[in-house]
Amino acid sequence: GDVAVLVPAAGLGTRLGPGAPKALRTLGGVPILWHAVHRLAAAPSVAAVVVAAPRGQVDPVRALLADAIVTSVRSTSGSVRGAAAGAGDVSGAATAAPGYLSDAPSRLPVPALTRAVVAESARAPAAGGGRCGPALYVVEGGASRQESVAAALAAVPAGLDIVAVHDAARALTPPELVERVAAAVRAGAPAVVPVLPVVDTVRAVDVAGALAGVVDRAGLRRIQTPQGFRRSVLVEAHARSGPAHTDDAGLVEAWGVPVAAVAGAEEAFKITTPYDLALATALLTAAP
Ligand code: CTP
Ligand code: MG
Repeated sequence: GDVAVLVPAAGLGTRLGPGAPKALRTLGGVPILWHAVHRLAAAPSVAAVVVAAPRGQVDPVRALLADAIVTSVRSTSGSVRGAAAGAGDVSGAATAAPGYLSDAPSRLPVPALTRAVVAESARAPAAGGGRCGPALYVVEGGASRQESVAAALAAVPAGLDIVAVHDAARALTPPELVERVAAAVRAGAPAVVPVLPVVDTVRAVDVAGALAGVVDRAGLRRIQTPQGFRRSVLVEAHARSGPAHTDDAGLVEAWGVPVAAVAGAEEAFKITTPYDLALATALLTAAP
């Protein structure tokens, strides 16, 4: 792999309501962040994952995610994909790993996932022949998403020329989307974002909130993560001071870098509100 993925996970989750920082709240028995990193680790291009953890949570997050990577790599090299190398001892819990690793959408009942996590965390890392999985780095995040990304960026190991930035809150993002973004950067784009069409009719409003004109949705896209960058481009953009941006593509674009689009994925939606968490839970537990 030639990709480092930065995972800003230090947000409070205010819109989700009172509770722990959003990335550490539970989805199907394990934290939202676990799901996000588990799926990143299953993408063959990913060589390093750098998480920006909530304040004071660096050590627990490191412990949590070592497990997410081990189980993901075991699942990837094991019977779920039918690959042989080094997978001789993969059975039972690993066989019950999430269905997103196969061509089918995720269909794993929550109790089975929880069992898989518990069983797998008792084992040693995958041995012999298989992919050994991305290296994991955990740093403390900052007061804004942009600061959290900058902290993670500073911890990226040498030798990786592509850096992607991925919201922890996009817990169910398929590994295939990571591969699509990485491939576009490898093909020469300095900055790449996944996009989806807008399905609702959209209107502008005036300062008082009164409806103004309809905005043609055919000319609009919703932007997701992971967003991929040539490493030098992201480093330069973060080094410059300027107005805050809500995502990294906005930051590099303000510096004059063109941003390319690839097809996004509905499963990469961001868990923002209680409705989104209910949707994610339903997707994770849906019967085949
Ligand atoms: N994030 C971060 N550091 C911050 C703020 C946000 O790392 N200081 C991360 C969040 O953890 C999340 C991603 O940026 O994975 C997208 O942010 P958002 O969905 O807005 O999450 P929160 O800021 O946690 O939620 P809210 O805005 O509702 O408080
Ligand atoms: Mg926020």
